[in-house]
Amino acid sequence: MCGIIGYIGDKPANQVIFEGLMRLEYRGYDSAGIAVLDQGKIVLAKDVGKLRNLRELLLTNFPSISSQGIGHTRWATHGRPSTFNAHPHGDCMATLMVAHNGIIENYMKLKHSLQSAGHIFKSETDSEVLAHLIESHYKGNIEDAVLKALAQVEGAYAIVVLHRDHSDRLVCARKESPLIVGLGKGENFIASDVTAIMQHTRRVVFIENLECAIVKRDRVDFFDLAGKPLERKSSLIDWNPIAAEKGGFSHFMLKEIYEQPQVIRNTIGGRTQEEDGKIFLTELGLTGPDIFRTQRIVMVACGTAYYAACVGKYLIEQLVRIPVECDLASEFRYRQPVVDRNTLVVAISQSGETADTLAAVREAKLRGAKVLGIVNAKESTLTREVDGLVYIHAGPEIGVASTKAYIAMLTAQVLLALLLGKIRGTLKPEFVQETIRELKILPQRIEQLLSNTAPIRALAEKFKDARHFLFLGRGINFPTAMEGALKLKEISYIHAEAYAAGEMKHGPIALIDKDLPVMAIATNQSVYDKLVSNIKEVQARSGTVIAVACESNCDIKNVADYVIAIPDCPEILTPILSVVPLQLFAYFVADLRGLDVDQPRNLAKSVTVE
Ligand code: F6R
Repeated sequence: MCGIIGYIGDKPANQVIFEGLMRLEYRGYDSAGIAVLDQGKIVLAKDVGKLRNLRELLLTNFPSISSQGIGHTRWATHGRPSTFNAHPHGDCMATLMVAHNGIIENYMKLKHSLQSAGHIFKSETDSEVLAHLIESHYKGNIEDAVLKALAQVEGAYAIVVLHRDHSDRLVCARKESPLIVGLGKGENFIASDVTAIMQHTRRVVFIENLECAIVKRDRVDFFDLAGKPLERKSSLIDWNPIAAEKGGFSHFMLKEIYEQPQVIRNTIGGRTQEEDGKIFLTELGLTGPDIFRTQRIVMVACGTAYYAACVGKYLIEQLVRIPVECDLASEFRYRQPVVDRNTLVVAISQSGETADTLAAVREAKLRGAKVLGIVNAKESTLTREVDGLVYIHAGPEIGVASTKAYIAMLTAQVLLALLLGKIRGTLKPEFVQETIRELKILPQRIEQLLSNTAPIRALAEKFKDARHFLFLGRGINFPTAMEGALKLKEISYIHAEAYAAGEMKHGPIALIDKDLPVMAIATNQSVYDKLVSNIKEVQARSGTVIAVACESNCDIKNVADYVIAIPDCPEILTPILSVVPLQLFAYFVADLRGLDVDQPRNLAKSVTVE
């Protein structure tokens, strides 16, 4: 995901910023840029692709002795990766430059009104509106203009601003997206991530939500977004650089679990309009006739992405009333699948490089089907082979066990189902509006869940030596049970199997005894009573049940041995919440067993071979 760095001091800014961007490379990016203030003029260098391209540009075209500037690595969301879309972005006359992380949700509205007032835009990004908004408010006081601009903005941001007329300062601010100030001697830094500046200073101030700072060479002043001065204490970072990449978490998997609220915000950011229930999936590549012609949807994927597809089946069948089949890509490719021009094939993949998924896509295209990709990795092979795309915007996922990409795949499919349902007329506008509203609250609900993980850790302690586990779920949470079982087996090496709860009595019930713990996902309201009956069947045979249930279902405490409560939400969104405790449970079990959580044995992050 995007990275920001700002510098003001007496060292060559180009070099400090470039080195900082290199330290942010692990986050993934598709383009980068640096802007410095050189003798009253802004000098700008941007390029697509790897940072070495930018280095060549800096060495040959933009040598500078400036000691003040900003830099950015971009992971495209609004607008393809290109030099124009790379940050920093300037105003009409390039008097100021802005680097931005996050998504400006009301950018279309702001852009139209700025264009009507004569502002000329050079990029397709949401971020460029910030530069023009600040320009429109600028009357000689840059911090004042920044605050006035931010008051008009909806969405998430971490920004740093450089202005031609202010060679003594950088201005920065944040809402939701992280930002820190690094304190040096006669020099100061701004960064989205401590890793970027750790070789210069370990003394940092974490800018709090809805705050801004004026960063000068020898002092930093903090304010709230109304301009009221604030006192802020610095902290000393004592992590090593690798730990810093993990942001203080002990493993990438845990960090990525905690990133999930932000990932949901990124997946839906700028794609919904709550007032009138509009959904924007700009890269969908499907026309109205394509959508009306679709008689069947076939979803293909592997592993976790396949379980995400299984949730998609429930969503689309319920909301769009088109029959959906889910197929493991490795099966689909060899079974002479029945697809034609009236079939929409949806391929889901985090990496966009999974060999079986790519082969399934090629097979589907040969048979005349339209193919839509739901993908995380920009510019991956899959993105080049499909007819249309829904990017999930989860950012780089480093832990081998997929967590945040799964959540983002589910969120993207909710958007897709809402859009298809609107177009095909199967959904009432009020339902779409209400679901958008609920989607927007989901990050807070996950934050609530993540704020107290101790009970899940205590359960992991109790069950860490189990040899087998059974996961049960029904309906839209049957795939949640499958994903929970996969997480547990891949990182803790405990054998775990998932069953549709109603199927248990047709065989697996024979396995139940006191040594087979059962994790029951009881979060769907529509089949809650049925699931409770299944739990009772387990207990009647001395089995131990851990139930994941919605807070409002208090009676579950009388039925299950242990309960993990999740916040209430509409049933179609429960898979996004229910999986979080299962990810944490698997994580804690693996960690307590002393295993390599981020790189489990025999597994690779991207399976590019058959
Ligand atoms: C499990 C996991 C794998 C992947 C699968 C597909 O945690 O990560 O099962 O989901 O290999 O990978 P992508 O989504 O990259 O196609």
